[in-house]
Amino acid sequence: MLDINKIRADFPILKQTVNGKALVYFDNAATSQKPQVVIDAVANYYKTINSNIHRGVHTLSQLATDAYEVSRQKIQTHFNAQHTHEIIFTRGTTESINLVANGFSQLLNKGDEVIISHLEHHSNIVPWQLACEKSGATLKVIPMNDKGALQMAAFDAFLSDKTKVVAVNHISNTLGTINPVKEIIDKAHKVGAAVLIDGAQAAPHLKVDVQALDCDFYCVSAHKMYGPTGIGFLYGKEVWLNKLPPYHGGGEMIKTVTFEKTTYADLPHKFEAGTPNIAGGIAFGTCIDYINSIGVENMAQQEKELLAYGTEKLLEIDGLKIYGTAAKKTSVISFNIEGIHPFDIGSIVDKLGVAVRTGHHCTQPIMDFYKIPGTVRASFSFYNTKAEIDVFVEAVKKAKMMLS
Ligand code: ALA
Repeated sequence: MLDINKIRADFPILKQTVNGKALVYFDNAATSQKPQVVIDAVANYYKTINSNIHRGVHTLSQLATDAYEVSRQKIQTHFNAQHTHEIIFTRGTTESINLVANGFSQLLNKGDEVIISHLEHHSNIVPWQLACEKSGATLKVIPMNDKGALQMAAFDAFLSDKTKVVAVNHISNTLGTINPVKEIIDKAHKVGAAVLIDGAQAAPHLKVDVQALDCDFYCVSAHKMYGPTGIGFLYGKEVWLNKLPPYHGGGEMIKTVTFEKTTYADLPHKFEAGTPNIAGGIAFGTCIDYINSIGVENMAQQEKELLAYGTEKLLEIDGLKIYGTAAKKTSVISFNIEGIHPFDIGSIVDKLGVAVRTGHHCTQPIMDFYKIPGTVRASFSFYNTKAEIDVFVEAVKKAKMMLS
């Protein structure tokens, strides 16, 4: 059992009032809140060792470089990558996917096929559309069913020796569905395809082991794992990272530069041009320590209870429909109330101190599937409570009363 009061005390923002009411923060799938240790890690970098990394002989630069590289090792250990240099720091999941898709745009040929799914965030759709446009490859989309689960028989039928890449999310940001990624990876490998997993929503909720999954690429954002925005990573198997061309050109990613020819640095630096978000990278390591001090399984247990309680309480409201009812899902509840626009519900509950996301959640194809303009999405984290769900449900009831 988690000591929830002690945990909540770690997150200074949770003590706030919003619109005169105690904040109930249920927009964790968009970004999670930050514990004091992570805020301190960012501040301490600027206060004590601010300097550029991998460049200076001076002491501060070495201290900053060491802290940044220790963080890379913590990420490697937490996600069980085989090598530290398989962890590439990026601005986040979106940049990680773009790095890979852009690389494949140079490796794919006309006639090749890329498979994504109907459950993808726009960030795992658009980069592949761009790669297919550039290369002449064809994009195929695994369909979903009413519950928000993937139709795996269709995936099986798509697979052939034309399949070169399969890119799917581990967990849907809109519906919470946990996809059968191990099965997808194993089947894709049988036809020789590379597999990219968008892990943005999974990394905060599940223990992810990239070697056990055997994925070729895994993409993560720190800010959904209680860390800073603007920092994340791409895990890639060494063999694939060596095959992909560089993404950004610039300082730090080269071995030698002449006007005739440039040779590239070894991994991971080949993909890390320019001065990165150093404070964010260092604080990402602090997040990993924080998560491990609580235990991903303990967090997941609390979130599972919140999901069950929230689902039960919301379904007591007449006319409320939940989208995303797959057997395996995480603590995301997307819903609408008959005859009421989701934006209006979001605005009213905000006045009552509750933060939820409304709209299409960067997944317009899912909205098209259900023929709706958007949903209200409540996404819970381990620091949320059943008492907060009660406040939220009362706020939704009030909104319904005002809007019907
Ligand atoms: N992808 C984030 C979300 O689902 C921003 O809200």
